[in-house]
Amino acid sequence: MHQMAPSPAAFKSAGPLSGRVRVPGDKSISHRSLMLSALAVGTSSVEGLLEGEDVLATAAAMRAMGAQIERGADGRWTIHGVGVGGLLQPDQALDMGNSGTSTRLLMGLVASHAITATFIGDASLSKRPMNRVIDPLSLMGAEFTASPGGRLPLVLRGIAPAIPIEYRLPVASAQVKSALLLAGLNTPGITRVIEPVPTRDHSERMLRGFGAALTVEQDATGARIISIRGEAELRPQHIVVPGDPSSAAFPVVAALLVAGSDVVIENVGLNPTRAGIFEVLRLMGGDIRFVNPRDVGGEPVADLHVRGSTLTGIEVPPDIAPSMIDEFPVLFVAAALAQGRTVTRGLEELRVKESDRLAVMAEGLRAIGARVEETEDGLIIDGTGGEPLAGGATIATHLDHRIAMSFAVAGLVASKPVTIDDMAPVATSFPIFEQLLCSLGATRE
Ligand code: S3P
Repeated sequence: MHQMAPSPAAFKSAGPLSGRVRVPGDKSISHRSLMLSALAVGTSSVEGLLEGEDVLATAAAMRAMGAQIERGADGRWTIHGVGVGGLLQPDQALDMGNSGTSTRLLMGLVASHAITATFIGDASLSKRPMNRVIDPLSLMGAEFTASPGGRLPLVLRGIAPAIPIEYRLPVASAQVKSALLLAGLNTPGITRVIEPVPTRDHSERMLRGFGAALTVEQDATGARIISIRGEAELRPQHIVVPGDPSSAAFPVVAALLVAGSDVVIENVGLNPTRAGIFEVLRLMGGDIRFVNPRDVGGEPVADLHVRGSTLTGIEVPPDIAPSMIDEFPVLFVAAALAQGRTVTRGLEELRVKESDRLAVMAEGLRAIGARVEETEDGLIIDGTGGEPLAGGATIATHLDHRIAMSFAVAGLVASKPVTIDDMAPVATSFPIFEQLLCSLGATRE
């Protein structure tokens, strides 16, 4: 994947940002579209698929396990599925690149097929914990030989029939939940996942859409109990992928921070389990309007009209964290420019993302003049009240796309250049990021 020479860059803005843009398709929905289509009986099609490296890693893996996946000249993808239970043993290791979602969801799929697969990934992915899926999938009968600490490279020996389990998630993770539901597809009986804190629900929505027998109930404590009946038969679908709110967050924060900006970001997915960032930015005083709300492929979508705003620091309620888990890096940039103090807590999961996002953001923001205190589970940031940051530093991105994009945004509101050591990881999730930011009026140095 992006193993070329590092590609450093710095971004600045000479004046307000303006224009109408469209962000690429949702990454979570794109992965699931390919996986579920590959397991349906017949031909599915996907419009608006995110063509980023992470999703292409999923496509390559599904092809290696027997699905036929093609991209048409019109950008529409066609997938001929093998049917649940029909995955074939891959000849070579499955290269997951930088993608935790591909890895954990595909481990779930392979676990309930009688095939063996080796999973490999880049330096960032090879540091990330996989025991969170290895443990429950082992209870279902799959066997693993992992690198020390439950990491990649690892070999997974799946089993069919697997044993259905009931599993209470020890961490709030849509990836773990989804891995188990996908394993449950080819497992006779009911596989049940109990989720004390709700996380993104695209798997549930899409599994139902493909015809799986899946129910969601709530217990007295408010936990979600998700049950899937295997062995399922999935019917092919036509999927329209909405724009990714996690990608939209970068131009949204850029437009809020650069005074006088007026920007519309079209077609942004606003599933309530994903849209926490916009709620928090509005609580901080951000002028974000949801225009033309509609439904795209079973997900709520709107155009976001964003104007430059004076932001005020807040205490971010910890229970909103799962609905904006990937947006904290760019929220920290917004907080660094806000008036007063922003306090975030309950974010220990950020330490096991593509990088340790609490440590890397704290270090980078301090290097460009922000006042940041790092705690065990969050950051406390005293903002400049709208004054530009000093800038004048080079940021180490640690193969983390969202660190790169967050500091690209910070550069727009800094006096001296903020150099990002490597923009290449951005291609994992948002290949047109630079182009889009520049079309709004930013320049790349
Ligand atoms: C994702 C779930 C989240 C998120 C990731 C995508 C998914 O990870 O950070 O970018 O598509 O299910 P966790 O499950 O580790 O929270």
